[in-house]
Amino acid sequence: MTHLVVEPRSFFFGTPVVLISTLNEDGSANLAPMSSAWWMRWSCMLGLSAKGKTVQNLRRERQCVLNLPSWDLGGAVDRLQDTTGLNPVPEDKAARGYRYEPDKFGAAQLTPVASELVGPPRVAECPVQLEAVIEAVHPFGRADEQLVGIEARIVRAHIEESILVPGQHQYVDGDTWSPLIFSFGEFYGLSSAPTATSAA
Ligand SMILES: Cc1cc2nc3c(=O)[nH]c(=O)nc-3n(C[C@H](O)[C@H](O)[C@H](O)COP(=O)(O)O)c2cc1C
Repeated sequence: MTHLVVEPRSFFFGTPVVLISTLNEDGSANLAPMSSAWWMRWSCMLGLSAKGKTVQNLRRERQCVLNLPSWDLGGAVDRLQDTTGLNPVPEDKAARGYRYEPDKFGAAQLTPVASELVGPPRVAECPVQLEAVIEAVHPFGRADEQLVGIEARIVRAHIEESILVPGQHQYVDGDTWSPLIFSFGEFYGLSSAPTATSAA
């Protein structure tokens, strides 16, 4: 191998896309794609720009739904690209071609369905819908980057039956489900067979 010292624009090595739904001040729903999320047990850390509508909503309402699309919902996520629930659109986003979109569900052609324990709606088309409450908002990265690490605790998990291990409903079946993966600007599914099995 020949290793070069370089300065990549990002380190998006490949993580599942999460469509995060939150409530706006007027009770309408916002929906935003994100992928800088990692999970431990029933907790999740969300890496978000503090400048978006989603973080405003999370700080105020302390609730969200983490909806995970399958690989074939890339088109819906694409339709949310370059949209924000912020009105007016901040200058830096406007310069990058973002537009204000008050109806994110409609724009994405996705269907809102009521949650059981939190205010924001779930995304009907997503096989994984996790109702969550916000435990903490941590500063993240350099101060001038205005990033936050938002700690969410899942309070209810809705999982489509066909992606659960038959007879063992406490496990999602990795052989059956292919989440939508965002890696260096492109969408992928998980297609290869497992190369090894871990005890986790
Ligand atoms: C596939 C994908 C992944 C994204 N991942 C993140 C992310 O992890 N964190 C983040 O802050 N923004 C992420 N974004 C950008 C936000 O979706 C974007 O800033 C959007 O305007 C936020 O909407 P809002 O202002 O209504 O909250 C991602 C966008 C796409 C399309």
